[in-house]
Amino acid sequence: MVAYEKIKKIPYGGDYNPEQWPEETWEEDMRILKLAHIDTVTLNVFSWASLQSDDDVYHFEKLDKIIDLVTAHGMKICLATSTGAHPAWMARKHPDILRVEHNGMKRKFGGRHNSCPNSPTYRKYAPALAAKLAERYKKYDNIVAWHISNEYGGECYCENCEKKFREWLKEKYKTIDEVNRVWDTAFWGHTFYDFEDVVLPNLLSEHMDDTRSCFQGISLDYKRFNSESILNAYRLEYDAIHAITPDIPITTNLMGTFFGLDYQMWGKYMDFISWDNYPANDTPISSTALRHDLMRGLKQGKPFALMEQTPSVQNWQPFNMLKRPGVMRLWSYQAIAHGADTVLFFQMKRSVGACEKYHGAVIDHAGHENTRVFREVTALGAELEKLGSQTLGARSDAKAAIVFDWDNWWAISYSSGPSIYLDYCREVEQYYKALFDRNIPVDMIGVEDDLSRYDLVIAPMLYMVKTGYDEKIRAYVKEGGRFLTTCFSGYVDEHDLVTIGGYPGKLRDILGIWVEEEDALPENLHNRFHYHGNTYPASLLCDLLHTEGAETLASYEEDFYAGMPVLTKNAFGKGFGYYVATQSSDEFYRDYLEEICEEADIQPIMDTPDGVEVTRRINQNGVFVFLLNHREEPYVTALPFAGEDLLGGKIYKAGDALVLEKKDVAIIKLK
Ligand code: GLA
Ligand code: ZN
Repeated sequence: MVAYEKIKKIPYGGDYNPEQWPEETWEEDMRILKLAHIDTVTLNVFSWASLQSDDDVYHFEKLDKIIDLVTAHGMKICLATSTGAHPAWMARKHPDILRVEHNGMKRKFGGRHNSCPNSPTYRKYAPALAAKLAERYKKYDNIVAWHISNEYGGECYCENCEKKFREWLKEKYKTIDEVNRVWDTAFWGHTFYDFEDVVLPNLLSEHMDDTRSCFQGISLDYKRFNSESILNAYRLEYDAIHAITPDIPITTNLMGTFFGLDYQMWGKYMDFISWDNYPANDTPISSTALRHDLMRGLKQGKPFALMEQTPSVQNWQPFNMLKRPGVMRLWSYQAIAHGADTVLFFQMKRSVGACEKYHGAVIDHAGHENTRVFREVTALGAELEKLGSQTLGARSDAKAAIVFDWDNWWAISYSSGPSIYLDYCREVEQYYKALFDRNIPVDMIGVEDDLSRYDLVIAPMLYMVKTGYDEKIRAYVKEGGRFLTTCFSGYVDEHDLVTIGGYPGKLRDILGIWVEEEDALPENLHNRFHYHGNTYPASLLCDLLHTEGAETLASYEEDFYAGMPVLTKNAFGKGFGYYVATQSSDEFYRDYLEEICEEADIQPIMDTPDGVEVTRRINQNGVFVFLLNHREEPYVTALPFAGEDLLGGKIYKAGDALVLEKKDVAIIKLK
């Protein structure tokens, strides 16, 4: 529910922190930002210290001035609540707000994203500030969104959190016996007699390091608890604001594949999704695309906001290469191509001090508009103005989906065997890339999402099958769906307790196989298999499996399990269950998924060479095909359809030659 009636075009701008600068400089900032066609600024992200100087002492005069200034210049505002970092006096006076780290260390004042989510002080003052802001600024009709806190994350292991954890467990499991069952505490004699016996799982208790835990069930529940604790703190602010300005949509900026928070749960409590996209210069384009699609999926495909990206450099990578000419524009359109309805930057102006002074900005330390970066920002601003509202609200029409699940990610990371090289995100990326490279639109979905609109559902490494999820998959395949999963799937339930009777547990009948053993290969060892005349490697994990109804498509060729199936396909109801028993190469995934997509009649939008990305978005204005040339050389093709390039203005008949210079973009509105 982005307030489209208020935005009318792709909002352009981002984080602006005039409070860090003398007031005399503000007018000049306005002049420069207006030159760049900036129409939306995110204000007040880190001002708690100046807004509240004691328990009941608030000061809004400076923020009033800032809001009036940007309002007078016709800009829209994304108003943040400033609760991403607490004031020093609060930490001194109310130390319950300070977090305790994984190693048991109680923090002092410092850093940001530093409040304990279960601190009574934080839970009182953060929503109180949010309410005061909403009350004070509700009369401004140029506030287009609320931005709660900033990039939530981290963990806390303080005594308040420990108490809350016990309450959370009581609520969830009712009895201590049930806690003992789901955590399998009979192992190592860990039986708890009372909820009071439970302590948080960290280096003082069950953990050897971040992800090595003696009791995965405890660590998994803590992860859920921590994500929910922080979400609940967010929700306090959400409710406070929503009660006062029910028509202004509320968000917080997420971070893509961020391990600590279950964003699929968070998405339910956000009016729209926004996220911060910071790829490194060498990040594969498919990885960025995946993250955009994942963020879009948090609200079942609704457009999202690109809340932050750098116009030029970051400061926190080991090497902060400049975005090459054209790349900022290209990556902005990549976000739009995947469902973004905003292009916002961190930041409008570089600070003079502290750890982000070398982070890129629209206004660099030079302080004027005569810079390369500024010229690129301005050109894009002008272009987005011309594009207007055409693409706003447009959705993807993907027929293929990839399942991504945070609980599953946590459980795999904690699994303790079979291999330290297990990397859930990498597994997912390999499958995603195969579809991406073929320009096949993909939705990244969670386990609660509907499957029936897809012709192919891929669930790489679905280690955890939560109660009922097998039923959902079964129903989908019976009705004609195609479901593919891989090694290390179906092992455990939502408590990380193994499903007895052979892997892949509850998925056995759908896949028509059972897995007896699993061989975890070190990095330098591979098995291999032949399929359709090609040889592919088998690495990481090699399942030793038996078919029980499935057809064997390929078998291992080496080691004592040579001849055992590695690729299987099972006819089930009107559909099929596919199993890939190992990890293989990009070539394999590409070839194999091409074959399955053909079987499922899932067509690429068009064929292009590597490095030329194509996506599609559809709304009431029409069908938009985005062509993005990430390569270092021009791309020339005969366009397979007729349409108008909304950026270049050219009209094409089907078969006309289209030339895209390096890093260039076309948005073809189909005829
Ligand atoms: C994040 C934060 C910003 C800033 C940028 C720097 O996305 O939200 O406040 O720190 O990173 O890249
Ligand atoms: Zn705490």
